[in-house]
Amino acid sequence: MKQRTLAIIKPDSVEKQVIGDIIQRIQNAGFKILGMKYTRLTEAQAKAFYEVHKDKPFFESLVKYMTSGPVVPIALEKENAIEDFRKLIGITDPAKAEEGTIRKLYGTNIERNAIHGSDSPENGEREVAFFFALSELVWNR
Ligand code: CMP
Repeated sequence: MKQRTLAIIKPDSVEKQVIGDIIQRIQNAGFKILGMKYTRLTEAQAKAFYEVHKDKPFFESLVKYMTSGPVVPIALEKENAIEDFRKLIGITDPAKAEEGTIRKLYGTNIERNAIHGSDSPENGEREVAFFFALSELVWNR
């Protein structure tokens, strides 16, 4: 079944100037881009996006990092998008991620891990809607 996932190319990847390579890898893996923007999150946006983690010890640091520079949110669609995208990016900690995954290639540490991907079809829909109005998704035209 077709699913949606939200990718966010994170500030460390923007800083490393690897946006282009990451988008190429996403396209090579067969994902359709529905929407994409280059933006910098406000503190309120970062806190809202990561609300589920608000009680975690790393929350404050995560918000600081995610607002430290520009990011590239990308709305993606594919059969089995959630699982396939998680395979493409690797697990949360770049040090433990499989060779060839985006986090292994470009992540710095468990926090500065290069890229975000949604963890369930429901969150994929919710997170795409967090960043994109229906009118901003090419699918809707
Ligand atoms: P992401 O997949 O975007 O979802 C939550 C983010 O919190 C995660 O990527 C990391 O950037 C960060 N994160 C998760 N676990 C930890 C941790 N143990 N320590 C610091 N940051 C973390």
